[in-house]
Parts: sequence; structure tokens; C-alpha cells
Amino acid sequence: MTDLELLARADAVAGRAYAPYSGFHVGCAVLTHDGVVIEGVNVENGSYPLGVCAERAAFSRAVAEGRRPGDFAVAAITASPCGGCRQWLAEMKVERVVFRNGGRVVTMSVDELLPEQFEL
Ligand code: THU
Repeated sequence: MTDLELLARADAVAGRAYAPYSGFHVGCAVLTHDGVVIEGVNVENGSYPLGVCAERAAFSRAVAEGRRPGDFAVAAITASPCGGCRQWLAEMKVERVVFRNGGRVVTMSVDELLPEQFEL
């Protein structure tokens, strides 16, 4: 699967986002090294800070399915990942991140998205 095909999966799943407060629908499609695609969408809440981003929804699902950091080749996102999600992408050791930003498609490594990471 190409990066653009994975991004198309993220675009498609974004339609299932639950975002009645922001109206900002985000989709994320993650490709594992063994070729499985796991999708997530943002899910908002009337108590605003409790909402969850599409990336965190996708990775939470992946972990629940038995995946672990290092299992992920690519994450495709319909928007530029927020700061907190960059930290999640780093934790999950994703090789490559592809996302839409202002009409462009951008590809970056986690090190580029989040330089000088701390290690516990
Ligand atoms: N959002 C994501 O799902 N991922 C990001 O990386 C950026 C922000 C969501 C959270 C919220 O539901 C909406 O976009 C507006 O911030």
C-alpha cells in the first residue's frame, strides 16, 4: 500500500469522526509492518478536554488489538498532528508520518515532527 493510498483511507474514515463541537473531522490510518491498516477518528465530548484525537484513537485501538511500539510503518493523518499526538507518534516509534497541511501532503519522520525527545 502506498502512502497516498493510506492517506485516502484516513480521508475516508474522517467522515465517521464525532466532532459536533469543533466541526473539525480528523481521520488517521496506521499501517503495520505486516500490512494491516488500523483506523481512528477524533471523538469529542461536551466536556471539551475529554475529547480524543484521531491518532490516539487509532493507536489505542492498535494496542488493544495486540500491537506494540515498533510495529508501525506509516501513520497517515488528514491534518497536521497536534503536539500531544506527536508525542504519541514518538512513543509508538512510527517510521514515517504522512499528513495534509494547507492543501499540501507532507511526509516527515517522528524525529522531524518532535526533535530532541526525552527518554524515560
Ligand atoms: N484533532 C485530532 O484529532 N488530531 C490532531 O492531531 C489535531 C486535532 C482533533 C481534536 C478535536 O476534536 C478537533 O481536532 C479540533 O481540535
